[in-house]
Parts: sequence; structure tokens; C-alpha cells
Amino acid sequence: STARITLDRDFTIGPVPRRLFGSFVEHMGRCVYTGIYEPGHPEADEKGYRQDVLKLVKELGATVVRYPGGNFVSGYNWEDGVGPVEGRPRRLDGAWHTIETNAFGLHEFVDWSKEAGVEVMEAINLGTRGVDAARELVEYANHPGGTALSDRRIANGAKDPFDIKLWCLGNELDGPWQIGHKTADEYGRLAQEAGKAMRFVDPSIELVAVGSSNSGMPTFGEWEHTVLSHAYDEVDYMSMHAYYQEHDGDALSFLASAVDMDYFIESVVATCDAVRAKRKATKHINLSFDEWNVWYQRGLDTDDQPHNVSKGWVEHPRLIEDAYNVTDAVVVGTLLNSLLRHGDRVSIANQAQLVNVIAPIRSEENGPAWRQSIFWPFARTAELAKGQILRTAVTSDRVDTPQFGDADLVDVSSTYDEEAGRVALFLANRGLDESADVSIDLRGFTASRVTRAEVLQIPEGGTRKSANTESEQDAVGLAPLDGVTLDGSSARLTLPALSWAV
Ligand code: AHR
Repeated sequence: STARITLDRDFTIGPVPRRLFGSFVEHMGRCVYTGIYEPGHPEADEKGYRQDVLKLVKELGATVVRYPGGNFVSGYNWEDGVGPVEGRPRRLDGAWHTIETNAFGLHEFVDWSKEAGVEVMEAINLGTRGVDAARELVEYANHPGGTALSDRRIANGAKDPFDIKLWCLGNELDGPWQIGHKTADEYGRLAQEAGKAMRFVDPSIELVAVGSSNSGMPTFGEWEHTVLSHAYDEVDYMSMHAYYQEHDGDALSFLASAVDMDYFIESVVATCDAVRAKRKATKHINLSFDEWNVWYQRGLDTDDQPHNVSKGWVEHPRLIEDAYNVTDAVVVGTLLNSLLRHGDRVSIANQAQLVNVIAPIRSEENGPAWRQSIFWPFARTAELAKGQILRTAVTSDRVDTPQFGDADLVDVSSTYDEEAGRVALFLANRGLDESADVSIDLRGFTASRVTRAEVLQIPEGGTRKSANTESEQDAVGLAPLDGVTLDGSSARLTLPALSWAV
């Protein structure tokens, strides 16, 4: 197939929001326990943080990490996770049918985040709790001292306030599966009052309202509208979640998942702006896409699902440890493209999750840590998408997909880092069997050289389902993309069938 791409130095969407490259650590499965934290592991430091995992987290380049859930947070008491570890309660976590030891909590996460060099995005429990617990947690975390709660933080070892700026007002409360599920009116009022009380404690914080759990929810659209009709003045962002998977071998639709992501983002932007118009407000509500990824959801009766209680109550069971393949990596690359293309309104995005649980990084208890295929598009986009997002015009051969209609065979986003004098292009070829010849018109740029060109594709002797495993950790990765030619303001390259390139 062929594709023609046009960039123009002056046609920009806006600066790349660095929080677009966020991730997510939930107390779920083995994300925390035997993921980022495993005292006694040969690679763990004296605090129990796995240094092998930490090294991969830094290499991944995540900028902000959401914590501690997810469904987990809707039944969580933050107080259980602070104070001397010996005194912390063991609890039943109903969301994932798991025993929570509370050996890891807020102080540990803030401390770990400093080592990882990431910003903390803290979610509060608006499932079983309310305004009081919300404002108390902000006081505990952010108030300098001299009050009961801030002094308790100091007594627990943290003299300096945590200074957490970004707060999620609950999680997926539109979903019937959520502990403390609410109607949009119930949630909208609660978010308004919790947000108000939290800001009374610390006016500098930014607040994310819970949006729809996915665009297929029966309440999608109405939920956002109603929630904002209550909480518009109190909140800064509307959250979105989306997970994609291949259904019954329909790879074409799966590869076009970003078409749905585009639609979802544009719909939520329109809804937020409709409320803005009605209220005659000047402020915009921007988006926090705080859970997104590929997730092979196998159904509620399968072994790795939380609601299958046959295993009884155990600590950190193996939950949704999807092994990602080449196709998944290409899809993840296109989802990152979609987020970048909407970077004027999507201010925050978090790939769910960071380690083991539907994650770019895998680790084994007492064993190694390694990168999954989806690690690569994330790491390179986080590293190289800097400066301004360029408005990228694409004329590509198209493919008809059963689920999402027509889609470009070549998907692209691009950025221009003026300081480094560098243009970055992130490209995916959705064609399963055909390579794509791509020509790029770099208007207004005089490019002198190609500094780097890399590609992720089906490995030799492999298939589109090839994946990295504990015994073969580098089966899928990046290799040099040969044959990129550059002639002043035009470039040419060939993308192999089913590939992602930078
Ligand atoms: O990321 C896994 C789960 O997906 C989260 O706990 C929940 O918010 C979503 O449904």
C-alpha cells in the first residue's frame, strides 16, 4: 500500500502534555506485591523495592503514576496503609477477592515514586467513603504540619508534605461492578462536595471527575453531562477508560481500535463543551484518559477473573497477566498516536497497568523482570514526543473493518522539538500482509539527517502472535529501520507489514 504524509512546521496542535505518558499501579494481582515491591527478592533494596523493575520503569519513561486503584480504591481505607507496618490490618479486598496485607501504602508509594522519578496521581475512595475521608487524606498528604493529621504524617516518617497535585475523585462509579456504584446525580453531587472540601484544604490541587468506564456503557454521554452539570466548577478533568482486544480473530478491527479511541475522545470533548456553553463558562474541562490498554477480557467465569472465588482468599493472586504480542504492540502504538493527536484536550493519560497486570513490564516472584512487546512503542513515544504536536495530514490506502468501518492503513502522529531541532514521527502499518511505501512532505523544515529510525515487526520465523516470555525475553523488540531516505524537506520509507516505527 502507499501513504502520503504532510507536516507543516507552522501547523501545530499544541505542546505535548508530558502527563500523556502516565501509568497506573493498582493494588491488584501482582502489580504491587511481587511487582514493584518484593522484600527478600535478590534485586530488592532494603525497602523492598525491586531495582530490576525500577530500572525498567525508568526506561519506560512513565511521567505520572495513578494509585492505588482502580476498582480496589472504592473499598479502600487509606489509613490502613500508613503507620508502623506491624500494626497495619489485613483486609478483604472485595473488588479483586484478595487478602490485602497493607504492607505497602501511601508513604511507600510516594517514596517509590521519587525513586522512579514519576509524579503521583492519587485516587480517593468515593465508593464506600465520602467528603470527610477525602479532605482528611488531602490534609494528611499535603498540609505542612501543626494539625492532627499532618502531624500524624510527620510522626509516620514524612516531615515534608507529599505535595500531591493530581487527585482522582473515585473510580468507575458508573459501573454496576463498582463497590458503591452510583447514579450520575448521586456521583455528581458527591464529586462536587468532595472536591470543594479537598480544595478548602489545599487550593492548589487538580481534580479529575469519574467519566464513563467505556464508550459502550448504557449511560455514556448522559453520565458526563449530568456529572458536569453538578461539578463543573469544582473539577478540572473528566476521566475516560478504554480497553481493546481482538475478538474472534478479527485482527483488522482490533488494529483499528484507535478509530474508536478518536471517536470516544471527540465525544467526551463535545459533551464537556456542551455543558460549558450551557453554563456560559470560560473554563474548559480537559480529559484524563486514566486507564487505557489492550486487555484480553476472557469472561467472568475464567480462572484469572476476580469474581471467580474458587481460589478462596489469597494474597496477590495472578490476575490478568496478559502476554502481549506483535499485533498488540502495533495497536498500542496507534492508541498513543490517538492520544497525541488529541493532545490539545487530553492532558493526562495512564496506560493500565505498570507491572504484571495488563502491563508493559512483567516480573516473576523470586525471578526475573522483562519487557513485553507493548513496552517499546510506549518507551519511544514517551522519549521522543517532545515540543509541539504537529497537525499531520495523511492520505493513505484504507481498509474496511467489520467493527470500526474505514481506517487508514498507515496511522501516524508527529511532534517537533524546536530546542533539539528534531521532528519525530510515530507510524503504524495496519496492513497484515503488505508493506507500506510512505512519502513524507516536511513543509517548512530543512532536514539534514535521519538521527534514528527503528521498527517493531514480526520477528524472523515468528508470527503476528509472537510475544516475549520469561525464557525468551527479547523475541519482540526494536530493530533499525533501513532504507529511510531524506532529501531536504521530503522523506521516504517503507513500513513492513504489521509494524510500528519511529
Ligand atoms: O485496570 C484494571 C481494572 O479495569 C481497574 O481496576 C478498573 O478501574 C477497570 O475496570
